[in-house]
Amino acid sequence: MLKIAVLGSSGSIGRQTLAVADKHKKIEIVALAVNRNIQLLERQVRQLRPAYAVVYDHGAAVEFKKRVSDLKTNVLEGMNGLEEVASLPEVDVVVTAVSGAIGLKPTVAAIKMGKTIALANKETLVTAGSIVMNLAQDYQAKIIPVDSEHSAIFQCLQGEKQALDKIILTASGGPFRGWTKERLKGVSPTQALKHPNWNMGRKISIDSATLMNKGLEVIEAHWLFNVSYDSIQVVVHPQSIIHSAVSFVDGSILAHMGVTDMRIPIQYALSYPHRWVGLLKPLDLAEVGELTFEKPDLEGFPTLKLAFTAGRIGGTMPAVLNAANEVAVEAFLKNEIGFLDIAAVVERAMEKHQVNNNPNLDDIFQVDADTRESVSHMIEAKGR
Ligand SMILES: NC(=O)c1ccc[n+]([C@@H]2O[C@H](COP(=O)([O-])OP(=O)(O)OC[C@H]3O[C@@H](n4cnc5c(N)ncnc54)[C@H](OP(=O)(O)O)[C@@H]3O)[C@@H](O)[C@H]2O)c1
Repeated sequence: MLKIAVLGSSGSIGRQTLAVADKHKKIEIVALAVNRNIQLLERQVRQLRPAYAVVYDHGAAVEFKKRVSDLKTNVLEGMNGLEEVASLPEVDVVVTAVSGAIGLKPTVAAIKMGKTIALANKETLVTAGSIVMNLAQDYQAKIIPVDSEHSAIFQCLQGEKQALDKIILTASGGPFRGWTKERLKGVSPTQALKHPNWNMGRKISIDSATLMNKGLEVIEAHWLFNVSYDSIQVVVHPQSIIHSAVSFVDGSILAHMGVTDMRIPIQYALSYPHRWVGLLKPLDLAEVGELTFEKPDLEGFPTLKLAFTAGRIGGTMPAVLNAANEVAVEAFLKNEIGFLDIAAVVERAMEKHQVNNNPNLDDIFQVDADTRESVSHMIEAKGR
C-alpha cells in the first residue's frame, strides 16, 4: 500500500486525489488537512478513517474535534498540525494541494523527512525554489509535479534530460484571450472565475485569467527542471490538449497530450515510475480536430512578463511577486480592486522591494509577511 497525506483535501486537487485513491485500492489515506471546510472534511474522515486530520483554523478545529469525537482519528490544528502530518514516519507521499505560500512550511517539513512530494502547490517553488530544491537534494526527497504542464514535461523528459534544449509551456490563454485592455478593465470576479477548459480553485482560476498562473509555472519549471528562463517559451494553445512540450538539441519536439482532467497528472504523480490504468476515456484525436498555437499577449496580460522578470532577478523577488499576487487576487475577489489592478499592484510591490540575493527560509517568510502587509495598505489607500 502507498500511504499518503493529502494537504488541502477539500480543494479541487485534494478531492480529485481522493477520487484517484478510491479507484486504486493500493493507496491508503493516512492524513487529511484543510483550512476550515470542516463539513467536507467530516464526510471524508467518516468515509476514509485516516489516522490524522488537520484543521488549520483554530475555531474550526475546536468545532471539528467535537463533531468527530466518536472516531479514533487524531485531530490536529494550525501550522504545527500540517508539519506534523507531513512528517509522519508512516507516510510515503505527501500531496501538497493547499493553495498559496502557506504550503511552503509543510513541504519543507516533508522534504526533511525524505518524503516523496506530489507537488501541486506551485507557490512553494515560486517563493523558495532554490532552497526547496537544495533541501530535496540534501534529504533525497523526490518532488513529482502534479501541475499538468510540469507533469507533461516531466514525462517527456524521462531518460533524456541531458539533450534538453527548451521547455515549451502551453497556456490556454484563459477566459479573456484576445480581449483588449479597455474590455479587461470591467471584468468581474464571476467572469474571471469561469475558465474555458479547467474547473479549479478560486485563486488559480483568477491566476489563469490574468496569466499569472503561467508566470508562476515558468518559475516552477525553472526550478523543477533546472533550465534558464531563456530556455522556457510560453505558447498559447487554447484547446489545452497539449499539456506542454520539450524541444531537444536535435530540433525534435516531444509533446504530452491528454484530456483536460487533473486526475491524470495526479495519478501519474502517485504511480510514478509506473503507470496505472486510467480513470477516464482516453483522448480521441479525431474528435479533437484542430490544435492551434499563438504567442501570448504580454501587453494585455503583463503578469507573465512580471513573473519572468521576478524569476530572472531571483533571490527574494519571486516571493514578493507571489505574496503581492495572493493579496491582490483576494482583493479582486472581494471587489476591492479591478482586474487590471492585480498586475499593477504586483508591479508596484516589486518596484518597492530591495532584493536579498541569497535568502534563507526565515528571510523568505519575512519578505512574504512584509509584502502582504504593504500590499494590503496599498489596496486600502487606493479604496479610500
Ligand atoms: N485546481 C487545479 O486544477 C490545479 C492545477 C494545477 C495546480 N494547482 C495548484 O494546486 C494548489 C491547490 O489548488 P486548488 O485549485 O485545489 O485550490 P482550492 O480548490 O482552492 O483548494 C485549496 C485547498 O487548500 C486548503 N487550504 C488553504 N489554506 C490552508 C491552510 N492554511 N491549511 C490547510 N489547508 C489549507 C483548502 O481548505 P479549505 O477548503 O478549508 O479552505 C482547500 O482544501 C494550488 O497551488 C494550485 O496552484 C491546481
